[in-house]
Amino acid sequence: MDYLKVSTVEDRINTDFLVIGSGVAGLRAAIELGSQGEVLVVTKDILTESSTEYAQGGVAVALSDEDEVGIHFEDTIRAGDGLCRENAVKILVEEGPERIMELIRWGAEFDKKDSKLDFAIEGAHSRKRILHAHGDSTGKEIERVLVDKVKSFENIKRLTHTMTVDLLVEDGRCYGIVLLKEGRFTLVTARATVLATGGGGQIFARTTNPPVATSDGMAMALRAGAVLEDMEFVQFHPTALYIPGAPQFLLSEAMRGEGGILRNVHGEAFMRNYHPLGELAPRDVVSRAIISEMVRTKSTHVYLDLTHLDSDFIKRRFPRIYKTCLLYNVDITSQRIPISPAAHYTMGGVKTDTEGRTTIRGLYAAGEVACTGVHGANRLASNSLLEGLVFGARAGRSSAEDGLEMPKGVPDVVLSSVARIKDAPLLRDTLRRIMWERVGIIRCKESLGIAREFILRHRGIIKGTYATREEIELRNMFITAMMITETAYHRECSIGAHYRSDFPQKAGCLYHQSCTWREDELIITRTDRESPGGRN
Ligand code: FAD
Ligand code: SIN
Repeated sequence: MDYLKVSTVEDRINTDFLVIGSGVAGLRAAIELGSQGEVLVVTKDILTESSTEYAQGGVAVALSDEDEVGIHFEDTIRAGDGLCRENAVKILVEEGPERIMELIRWGAEFDKKDSKLDFAIEGAHSRKRILHAHGDSTGKEIERVLVDKVKSFENIKRLTHTMTVDLLVEDGRCYGIVLLKEGRFTLVTARATVLATGGGGQIFARTTNPPVATSDGMAMALRAGAVLEDMEFVQFHPTALYIPGAPQFLLSEAMRGEGGILRNVHGEAFMRNYHPLGELAPRDVVSRAIISEMVRTKSTHVYLDLTHLDSDFIKRRFPRIYKTCLLYNVDITSQRIPISPAAHYTMGGVKTDTEGRTTIRGLYAAGEVACTGVHGANRLASNSLLEGLVFGARAGRSSAEDGLEMPKGVPDVVLSSVARIKDAPLLRDTLRRIMWERVGIIRCKESLGIAREFILRHRGIIKGTYATREEIELRNMFITAMMITETAYHRECSIGAHYRSDFPQKAGCLYHQSCTWREDELIITRTDRESPGGRN
């Protein structure tokens, strides 16, 4: 790891518990820690800027009269295509209802029908079980409630616009972080650190993710010596707005749940040709079907068509999407919406057990940055907000209950030299384009080889120490891109969201791959499907 110099005593902060990230997982962990000591939440933008804030469709939970936790379990396992860790899934579906009821007690307002909670359906769910808020602003509502709750604790301090640069680890124990605020490095020491930095959609040119989603936590954890797992499994959402120059705004899967139809540029509905569940087939199937239709019709996009639905219903059910599409001159009540897939969710991440413990003592992880194995090779829609609540609470709880002491005799962190990356914006664009084109929805040895070669050519970036957010993020994106590309290259079969056109068969694919970092080299190890999460 690179060392940064902390020159003055003022540049040190001590806290009992450190939480990095203020999305659903970080905030939920912080709330659990609120009664346990001094808590510091560090986040690189404003408090609410996160994937959580933009989550649309909803949160899956087995609470409706027609549902059971056992059916939610089965649906999650089926979506994961054989690679879910069943103990983690069991916890998710069993503890989910209590976490949601608690959120409602704290003030969350989920949409209702005739005074009862209104449950929607999304792809690969066999029951209506998706709770939503303000139609299509579920994440914003959850974030609002969690932020209010966090603010009710005097001992939870918040440090915004603050970039975590590196985790500090000595003798296998994480004792804090180095952060960057207004150009100054600061050393923070803590009894326990919870990593909740979200995913890495920004590594791909087309993504639904906000700018903060640059996989910092994954790259930092790898450099610090943690084990990461399942990095080749990236979920591509089938329906993101496709208008050149417009953002790749998500068009919620709930729109297909309410009857939206996918049509190619000739107006033909095509999903039944690909899967018996049609528009509600698993996301990887829908994304690949869209790509096939785009190739077959030589077009850049297909359409999502809601025009046969009642226009008042559309405006009421999807108000945020309706207003956003209007800004780009698409009235979704009367016009088909041009769409194409985009990178959406990172199934892999920092390996944890079901208590959020990583392979490094004192370091915990929860939410999209973590890999409990709950999603296996593909995530069931709307399971990640629930994951953030359930495993955020668990990580918070265990980081207090493990009873780690405050680190003593913390050494000075010594700065080697701060480097600059030449043409960082151009390199970032090129990396994102290559990852989208070569390591995207359909991969093969040749395409992955091109991406590997590009990453290898720019390996120097990985070794540097940087002092701007832009450069720190780019370094992290290169490291995570390397993990995704290498694991995808080595997995010579197709399962869940990982599809190899040169190895389309699933046979022989039931194993996990771990990533570790030794002497600046990425090491990939294959582990058995049944091996437990967390420390090994
Ligand atoms: P995030 O919510 O992304 O929070 C990460 C936090 O870490 C942010 O505060 C960020 O600023 C901070 N951070 C990152 N790096 C650093 C650093 N270096 N230093 C300091 N802070 C840092 N899931 C569902 O279940 N249902 C949905 O309907 C749904 N819709 C979605 C719609 C969109 C457009 C997107 C992008 C995702 C959607 N998802 C949905 C997925 C879900 O929103 C995310 O997986 C989940 O919110 C992740 O929560 P998190 O707390 O792990 O991370
Ligand atoms: C969506 O609304 O389609 C996103 C749901 C999710 O990613 O779980």
